[in-house]
Amino acid sequence: MSAPVEGTAEPAVEPAVTDWTDQLLELDVGAVAHGGHCVARHEGRVVFVRHALPGERVRAAVTEDAGGSFCRADAVAVLVASPQRVEPPCPWAGPGGCGGCDWQHAEPALQRDLKAVVIAEQLSRLAGIEREVTVEELPGGSLDWRTRMRMAVTDDGRAGLRAHRSHEVLPVGDCPIAAPGALLPVLEREWTPTAEVEIVRDAAGEVHATELFEGVRHPALGSGTAHEQAAGREWDLPAEAFWQVHPHAADAVVAAVLEGVGDLAPGACAWDLYGGAGLIAAPLAERVGPEGRVVLVESDPAATAAAGRCLADLPAVQVVRGRVEKVLNGLPGPPAVVVADPPRKGLGRGLAGRLAEQGAERIVLVACDPAALARDVAAMAEHGYRLDALRAFDAFPMTHHVECVATVRRK
Ligand SMILES: C[S@@+](CC[C@H](N)C(=O)[O-])C[C@H]1O[C@@H](n2cnc3c(N)ncnc32)[C@H](O)[C@@H]1O
Repeated sequence: MSAPVEGTAEPAVEPAVTDWTDQLLELDVGAVAHGGHCVARHEGRVVFVRHALPGERVRAAVTEDAGGSFCRADAVAVLVASPQRVEPPCPWAGPGGCGGCDWQHAEPALQRDLKAVVIAEQLSRLAGIEREVTVEELPGGSLDWRTRMRMAVTDDGRAGLRAHRSHEVLPVGDCPIAAPGALLPVLEREWTPTAEVEIVRDAAGEVHATELFEGVRHPALGSGTAHEQAAGREWDLPAEAFWQVHPHAADAVVAAVLEGVGDLAPGACAWDLYGGAGLIAAPLAERVGPEGRVVLVESDPAATAAAGRCLADLPAVQVVRGRVEKVLNGLPGPPAVVVADPPRKGLGRGLAGRLAEQGAERIVLVACDPAALARDVAAMAEHGYRLDALRAFDAFPMTHHVECVATVRRK
């Protein structure tokens, strides 16, 4: 290319920027990716396609163009369907519909396979671990399971659900994945426009709802005390405290954690980090006996108060209210085993490393995001821990979410 001659400025050559938003593309759909979509390629660019399945050919409308890197699209017509495609049971599933579910159009067995592929892929990509993964079904089928849910409120005061990646509130009427009876009293009421509503249907069938408006919680329905049953015990906890969403998830997680923990001698010390109301601390305390110690760390005062009440019969349990990252160094130990069940973003590299430095023989990680889990496992590998058992449960059917319990052991 010749140099521009002074005074005869050549027009600047701008890179061709084509915004594909709203374009219709015909795509051959490839593998599933983390987040409830599949990967396709078009003219060398990656397109994340929702409402499609691997192996399908679809016509997809681009919903977002991330400017050169990738696009998002919704399959609006299926040209060649997967044999495992089904009619979504919910009329609000599909393009432009409710953002709560990702896989209503897939057979439940395929949903579990897709989640298994995602877990295996995240472990491979982020932790360098090649492993076959199985996602286990929980009892009860794919519908009627969601005991906890957050709804938005329409401008005319009706509870609804948000469209995918949008602030739009859809007046859904009912939700087929919600636990039976959970939404009825909520849908009948008028709520403050733009508020959010937190709903819990507990094991006794009582519905608790709290309106959240301008940062303030207003109890609206139910006694506010959720009655739950799990790990062979009864639990009364504030409805706003964490509890597993699927009615069978708490028992499945506890069983997998105990399997991961393995033999724990009476008198041993165990840590239950991010312990909530003590779901995992309780069976650990039964294992170590009254002369042992289970240190439960939890930051939510409502949960620690519930743990104090629910575990009052277990003298081994010591409840520490605080943030794990702040209190870790001062905890009684050393622990023979650590269980960590952090929020979705996981421990993070720094905290995973600090935890590994405590020297426990085994660390059991409970995780609802396979990417966060893989990053934490990778961080622990730098400190000599290797992935041992891995269980995964379809605790969120119809969605892309999955619950994992992974045990890492010191080499
Ligand atoms: C996924 S829940 C697990 C609760 C419990 N293990 C169970 O299964 O019921 C995560 C818990 O961690 C608590 N939490 C969040 N951030 C925390 C932090 N930095 N330190 C301690 N607890 C935290 C939350 O309040 C929540 O109860």
